[in-house]
Amino acid sequence: MKTTDRYQRPIISLRISITNRCNVRCFYCHHDGIVAESYEMSPDEIFRIAKIAKDIGVEKIRLSGGEPLVRKDIVEIVSKIASLDFKDISITTNGTLLGRYAAELVDAGLKRVNVSFDTLNPKTYRFITKRDYMENAREGIKKAVEAGLDPVKVNMVVMKGVNDHEIWDMFQFCRENGVILQLIELLKTENCEEGEFLEDYHYDMNPLEEELSKISHRVKKRRFMQDRKKYFIEDGEIEVVRPMDNTEFCKNCTRLRITPEGKIKPCLLRNDNLVDLIEPIRSGSSDEELKNLFLNAINKREPYYTETCATKSS
Ligand code: GTP
Ligand code: 5AD
Ligand code: SF4
Repeated sequence: MKTTDRYQRPIISLRISITNRCNVRCFYCHHDGIVAESYEMSPDEIFRIAKIAKDIGVEKIRLSGGEPLVRKDIVEIVSKIASLDFKDISITTNGTLLGRYAAELVDAGLKRVNVSFDTLNPKTYRFITKRDYMENAREGIKKAVEAGLDPVKVNMVVMKGVNDHEIWDMFQFCRENGVILQLIELLKTENCEEGEFLEDYHYDMNPLEEELSKISHRVKKRRFMQDRKKYFIEDGEIEVVRPMDNTEFCKNCTRLRITPEGKIKPCLLRNDNLVDLIEPIRSGSSDEELKNLFLNAINKREPYYTETCATKSS
């Protein structure tokens, strides 16, 4: 059984942010839309949420953060969720701790990872993350492939004057390592340190996409993944994620999120319609009651970027 929202969008995937702690400090970080104090749910609470989600038709779970691998119980969390037999379990990570955990996570049932990795230049890495962990992240990507996570994707947020000249080097690096390059358009965030960074660094993906279309031997749309385009170039693959100026993006969004403090978040870009789950869980609510909270949240889903407000967040 699938649950569909008021705009006929099926809810297929659940992104659970399991912590808002992170060991790096990307200046553009949108903290997956999270604004609260440091907060985490227990592995059992996370399991309960995943179980209810499964009951309403969710097929895929993604763990995100903050940085999910800073949690010492990450392997336990993955293994509990894996016992529910989802079609897909993945993690979005900055990769710096992935070398240490990749093999154990595969044993626990993890299927794939996306690694935020924007540059191959140590100085640029430091500029973006304020830390010197570039080699750890590189190592993490390699270990993830070796451990059998498939696919491994590299998330590169493309920024004008920062790393836009590195796109082809990154593609080469990804091909050499057998991973998919995901180019991400920079988004405005509410809680960014550097104020107007969007104006300084926003990179126009249009000319790039034109070039990609010309040199690809195949282009595919991921319909239930916000209509993103996948470009196949020689033996490599590039996926482009551009939520802004893209009315199709929200139209085809099939995900729901859980914040680290245990609230259902109907849309990444809004904080005004959250539905609390953790208090009801802690005070003994039944599965049926929790299911209704999910349905309630799904009912609040509203496309953010529409034809008339494509630039709402800029
Ligand atoms: P897969 O391709 O299935 O691995 O998922 P993904 O690429 O969405 O996962 P990931 O966590 O790597 O996110 C990549 C980018 O998509 C990030 O920049 C997110 O900000 C953006 N993104 C993910 N979900 C949403 C969403 O619901 N709305 C918007 N506007 N952006 C999103
Ligand atoms: N704009 C675009 N992408 C962002 N990410 C974090 N903040 C932003 C932003 N302001 C990306 C990270 C990570 C993914 C989950 O979100 O690079 O890979
Ligand atoms: Fe934010 Fe991810 Fe960077 Fe951590 S690694 S600061 S969560 S974008």
